[in-house]
Amino acid sequence: MAQSNKPDLLIIEDDKGLQKQLKWSFDQYNVILAEDRDSALVELRRFQPQVITLDLGLPPDPANASVGLELLEEILSLSPTSKVIVVTGNDQREIAMQAVNAGAYDYYQKPIQPEELTLIIKRAFELAKLEDENRRHFQQQKESFHGIIATSPEMMGVCQKIEKVAPTDVSVLLLGDSGTGKELLARAIHDISPRRSKNMVAINCAAIPDNLLESELFGYEAGAFTGANKTTMGKIEYANGGTLFLDEIGDMPMALQAKLLRFLQERVVERVGGRESIPVDVRIIAATHHTLEDLVNEGKFREDLFYRLSEVVLNIPALSKRNGDVVLIARSLLEKFNRQYSRNIRGFSKDAVQAMEAYSWPGNVRELENKIKSAVVMSDSNQITAKDLQIDEAQLREMPLNLRQVREAAETRAIQRAIVLSDGNISQAAKLLGLTRPTLYSLMDKYSISS
Ligand SMILES: Nc1ncnc2c1ncn2[C@@H]1O[C@H](COP(=O)(O)OP(=O)(O)OP(=O)(O)O)[C@@H](O)[C@H]1O
Ligand SMILES: [Mg+2]
Repeated sequence: MAQSNKPDLLIIEDDKGLQKQLKWSFDQYNVILAEDRDSALVELRRFQPQVITLDLGLPPDPANASVGLELLEEILSLSPTSKVIVVTGNDQREIAMQAVNAGAYDYYQKPIQPEELTLIIKRAFELAKLEDENRRHFQQQKESFHGIIATSPEMMGVCQKIEKVAPTDVSVLLLGDSGTGKELLARAIHDISPRRSKNMVAINCAAIPDNLLESELFGYEAGAFTGANKTTMGKIEYANGGTLFLDEIGDMPMALQAKLLRFLQERVVERVGGRESIPVDVRIIAATHHTLEDLVNEGKFREDLFYRLSEVVLNIPALSKRNGDVVLIARSLLEKFNRQYSRNIRGFSKDAVQAMEAYSWPGNVRELENKIKSAVVMSDSNQITAKDLQIDEAQLREMPLNLRQVREAAETRAIQRAIVLSDGNISQAAKLLGLTRPTLYSLMDKYSISS
């Protein structure tokens, strides 16, 4: 039978008579039947249906809703975007509400009137389709900006600034702790600038010994020093027409700072041992985890160079200061490492999400990357748990004591999380939070949260 273009509808129902009746009533769908927990999970994995009806009274204990409620949780953790309509006995309103609170889309009380249930199912399919479109749109538009994954207002602000400075030639100084994404941001600036077809050359000023740094940067003529067998171009020349990324600029030795400054003023390089001045056109992006002003005050960094480099300064927030980003980045890293290591881990357990949100991430995104990579490689189950992430409990952030602060922080966090979980769909997020849409909008306004 050619059923391939009908949407899949999974009906979990143990009553054979009802099964038949439902199958017959819903012939506009590709009805898949399951009669207990195990067969339901098999069909769920196989078809990933957008809409599911779930009879809460299932074997081995059909008189009790507990098997059904447990299955509901399992379904939602495996397939969080599926719309589950729970079907209950006619005096089980409380249980129905419990199911909706646990994430069911809607409920329906027996006895079943196929026309009524059809309407609910039809609406569920429409909503699922709409959400799917929103999700795609959201993913394309917001989640990833040239590889930068972010949803927090803090990082959105950084991305907007990047969009503004990229087309210009101004020097950008990126300030942020280790692992916050300085190199990724530098790459994004280059990639959306008119210089993108030319090289972006990165130099790590902290990793090259003092005596080699000059020849690295400016190049050298044959015979300039022992071992200089042939004339070699420096990194600045390689970047001609493109972007020069000076990483860990705070660690550049004083003597070289003077030479770099001269280059920035005159825009010509002289190779070591050479006499010729070679004009070079580069855009400079510098980065450091040091507070450059402090280095200037301590006399370790030239003030005039500091001003040259910092025409625009971008402060990159620590990962723990980006509301909602940890889980979002974690999910995308999970997909990446699943592909890389041919694993098929579906998601994170609740305790893993809580631990990730409470942890202080001293190593920022790089640390998150390492933890997820190791969890993906080592995990034995299809979910990553807090234990897999090896998050040290002593490092979980302390709660502030002032109640208003606690409440505001908790509200902000819950809202961010609901928006992430519903992929930017505000109606859905409001529903998760038990709020009306206008209330959610006013709270988002109060806490400057964007969707
Ligand atoms: N917002 C983000 N979304 C996705 N990946 C990110 C994000 N920020 C950083 N990363 C990833 O995290 C890792 C560390 O980022 P990057 O090397 O740019 O940081 P850094 O600030 O230069 O760190 P370091 O000080 O250690 O050199 C990289 O693999 C990068 O791709
Ligand atoms: Mg770096």
